[in-house]
Amino acid sequence: MKVLVTGGAGFIGSNFIHYWLKKYPKDQVFNVDALKYAGNLENLKDIEADPNYPFIKGDISKYDEIEPIFKKEIDIVVNFAAQSHVDRSLYDPYEFITTNIIGTKNLLELSTRYKVKKFHQVSTDEVFGDLALNSKDKFSERTLLKPSNEYSATKASAEMIVMAYNFTYKLPTTISNCTNNIGPNQYPEKLVPLAITNIMEGKKVPIYGSGKNVRDWLHVLDHCSAIDLVIKAGKVGERYMIGSDHEEISNIQLIKKILKIMKKDGDWMEFVTDRLGHDRKYAVDWSKIKKLGWKPKYKLDDSIRLTVDWYMKNEDWWKKIKSGEFRKHYEKVYGNR
Ligand code: NAD
Ligand code: TYD
Repeated sequence: MKVLVTGGAGFIGSNFIHYWLKKYPKDQVFNVDALKYAGNLENLKDIEADPNYPFIKGDISKYDEIEPIFKKEIDIVVNFAAQSHVDRSLYDPYEFITTNIIGTKNLLELSTRYKVKKFHQVSTDEVFGDLALNSKDKFSERTLLKPSNEYSATKASAEMIVMAYNFTYKLPTTISNCTNNIGPNQYPEKLVPLAITNIMEGKKVPIYGSGKNVRDWLHVLDHCSAIDLVIKAGKVGERYMIGSDHEEISNIQLIKKILKIMKKDGDWMEFVTDRLGHDRKYAVDWSKIKKLGWKPKYKLDDSIRLTVDWYMKNEDWWKKIKSGEFRKHYEKVYGNR
C-alpha cells in the first residue's frame, strides 16, 4: 500500500508516520511537507534513510508542485497539513486560507484525477464552535459546523469541500474530528508544551482570561490509532468524532497537574489578557467510533506525565525552536515577557 501523508513533519503527522510504519512495515509512506514553522525533519530523523519513507518538500497550496507525487500511484491520502494554531489565525489569517482551504482543494482534485482509493481529512472538534461552560451537551457527528475563528473556519471550509468531492465526484472520503492532542513533537506554542518548556526555562505559564475554559485532551498515539481505524473500517462519505474518556477539566486544572509533576506551586501560573473569541468549551461524543472498536489507551495523567518526560529529555529539540521564529510569535501574543 502507498500512503501519502501531508504535513508529516509536524506534530501529529510525524507521530502518525512512525505509528503507520511500525504497524504496516510493508507499506510505503510518502511525506509531503512544506516545512513551515512547525515542520521539523528532526521528528523523523530515525527513519530518514528508510526506503519506505520518501520525503518530498512540497506545498499543498501549489498544485503543480504536488502533482508529481500522485503519479506514484498513491492508494491513500491522509491530510494533516495545516496552519493549526488559533492565536496565529488572529494575526496571519491568509496563511490559513491558503493552506487549509486551497491546499485541501488541490489534494482533492489530484486524488480524484489519479483515482486515489481513500482520502482522509484530519479535522478538529473546533469546527463546531463552542459549548457553554455549564452545558452538558457534546459535539457529535450530527452537530452543525459553526466555527468561531479563522483556524476553525478554514478547517470547516475544507471539510465542506471534502464532502462536496465525495458527493459530486464520488471520491471515497472520510473525515475525523479530534479533540486537543498532547505528546512528543508538539511545537511549543500550544498550551501543554508551552507550559512545560516555560517552567523548565524558569518562566511562568500564561493562562488566558479566567483559565476556566475546558478542553478534552488525548494522547497523540490514540489519535493515530483512531485515524487508522477510520481509514480501514470507516464508512465512506462519513465523519467520526475522536475524544478522550477523562472527566471535564479546565485549563487551570490541567496546568496544576503539570505543575505537580514538575514540583512547582500555583504561583507559576500567570493570568494574561484573554484570547480574542476564546472558545469556552469543547466536549465530544465519540460513541460512533467506539462501535467500530476504538477507545483511548492512555489515561489523562499518563499522557501528561509521558509528555512532561519527553520535553524534559529533549531539551535540544525545543530550545532550538524557542530561540528561533518562535520568539516573534511569543512577543506578538504575550508581549515582551
Ligand atoms: P502542526 O502545526 O504541528 O503541523 C502542521 C504541518 O503541516 C507542519 O509540518 C507544516 O510544515 C505543514 N504544512 C503547513 N502548511 C503546509 C503547506 N502549505 N503544504 C505542506 N505542508 C504544510 O499541526 P498538528 O498539530 O500536527 O496538526 C495536524 C492536523 O491535525 C491539522 O490538520 C490540525 O487541524 C489537525 N488537528 C490537530 C489537533 C491538535 O491538537 N494539534 C487536534 C485535532 C486536529
Ligand atoms: P491551544 O493549545 O492553543 O489549543 P486550542 O486553542 O486549539 O484548543 O490552547 C488550549 C487552551 O489553552 C485554550 O483554552 C487556550 C488556552 N491557552 C492559554 O490559556 N494560554 C496559552 O498561552 C495558550 C497557548 C493557550
